[in-house]
Amino acid sequence: MLVGELLEQLVVDAVRTALGVEISRAEALVRPSAPERGGDYQSNVAMGLAKGLGRPSRDIADAVVSAVDPAGMLEPPTVGGPGFVNLRLRDDWLGAQLTALVDDDRLGVPQAAHPQRVVVDHSGPNVAKEMHVGHLRSTIIGDAIVRMKQFLGHEVIRRNHLGDWGTPFGMLVERLLEVGRVEGEDLNAFYRAARAAFDSDPEFADRARARVVALQSGDEETLAHWRKLVAESQEHVERVYRALGVQLTAADSYGESFYDPFLADTVDELGPLLQESDGALCAFRDGESAPIIVRKSDGGYTYATTDLAALRYWTQDRDATELIYVIGAPQRQHLVMVFATATAAGWLDERHRAVHVSFGSVLGDDGRMLRTRSGDSVKLVDLLDEAVERAAAVIGERSDLDVSAVARAVGIGAVKYADLSSSREKDYAFTWDRMLATDGNTSVYLQYANARIRSILRKAGDTTGARGIVVHERTERALAIALLRLPAAIDAADRSCTPRTLCGHLHELAAEFSRFYEGRPILGDPSRLGLTRLTSRALVLGLDLLGIAAPERM
Ligand code: ARG
Repeated sequence: MLVGELLEQLVVDAVRTALGVEISRAEALVRPSAPERGGDYQSNVAMGLAKGLGRPSRDIADAVVSAVDPAGMLEPPTVGGPGFVNLRLRDDWLGAQLTALVDDDRLGVPQAAHPQRVVVDHSGPNVAKEMHVGHLRSTIIGDAIVRMKQFLGHEVIRRNHLGDWGTPFGMLVERLLEVGRVEGEDLNAFYRAARAAFDSDPEFADRARARVVALQSGDEETLAHWRKLVAESQEHVERVYRALGVQLTAADSYGESFYDPFLADTVDELGPLLQESDGALCAFRDGESAPIIVRKSDGGYTYATTDLAALRYWTQDRDATELIYVIGAPQRQHLVMVFATATAAGWLDERHRAVHVSFGSVLGDDGRMLRTRSGDSVKLVDLLDEAVERAAAVIGERSDLDVSAVARAVGIGAVKYADLSSSREKDYAFTWDRMLATDGNTSVYLQYANARIRSILRKAGDTTGARGIVVHERTERALAIALLRLPAAIDAADRSCTPRTLCGHLHELAAEFSRFYEGRPILGDPSRLGLTRLTSRALVLGLDLLGIAAPERM
């Protein structure tokens, strides 16, 4: 059990003994506190119970405190204010816990009790279109979720729902035939040219429409051209994935085309749930909103049909028990309707669950959607190049470093961390100076903290063999407690698919370390060196779960 859980249990037991009342662990209301306020943790259980029991909370707290069994873990608890129960961990207990972490390569993070088969739908760029910052958030947040789930022992399937199918491919294939190749590096220009031809040239438009029919009926020649387009885009996005250092590869692509063979069956199976409207088949209507169309009046299928087919495939054929959709907030209503339809169809149930991990837009300095000066949405490759250049400037000229490797770790890390540490559901402003600040809640700050620790450990010879960790003074205790809270921070980030919680904890840990460091010398003190080494391991692990590298030297 994690520290917080152990304390909750002590309070639950004390409440039973003192008051004969059975409460849940959550009702123990245990929260991290601070020694200045009387404890490392605090329980507000007395306030929670006062009304129901008709007794002053202070009385209840006194009764609970006298019944708490400190179990070698706690100093005798005290009561503060209107009835806070202050819980202070014993120094020897802390020391023993920290000592145990030295040989634990999971740093106290338990494996999931019930491993799930989790599908993380993320990234989802569109073929023959430039990947933009909107896809950036999905890719970065999705990758962090993938890493956390893997570390917790779940079976994770990375799923990249590439937009590689549907009516635009008629005009795109025709354009490809006209010009022979996708011009230059600029996929957006290619897409725009195809669209312009489609809108202005009726003959081109006719050919494009015929092409869609050929594509969907499996015409080999058309498919060959289509594959060429998909392959070009796949290469393009893989360059971005490699630059970002995310786990996604071509093997994780389950594009819309993958589900094409299942669309007709999916609609059949939905049969009884569908209604006809002007020749189209519709499912689920939520109040005023338009229903989702699963088959258009011309017999064509839609984005929603594909998502339903995918959901059916992953739950029914692949028995995935948790489906996580990392998709921007504008698609909320779409997913609400898809999930409701899938629930009605029996594809989602107690055992197979789906969640929408929603996120806001990326805004520029001006508070508007991030755009280039010419008004186009920003190209991701350019953005990442700029991040690395700016990071190199922050690091400066150094002869003792592989500056380009460190700049990559710092620049890419900054882009990811800025995203991961902001409120996921809200829009966030992309501000270079803030994300590359060397103090504050940034990845550079964490990377510097770790590099500083690594240099101390190198000086110490890194072979101190520190086994016994003893904690005593205030900053040692605070650092020790922050280290023990890492598992809870990871658990909270994982549960809510909000890496921000983990970012906040790592920042706190690094800040505790610097207070500890300013205290007494570390070199020559095996216990303090042990704490120092654990701090580095925790930072490296935490950053790794966020998909961020931690250079040894900076
Ligand atoms: N290609 C879509 C877009 O760019 C994102 C796909 C998200 N995943 C999904 N299963 N619908 O908006």
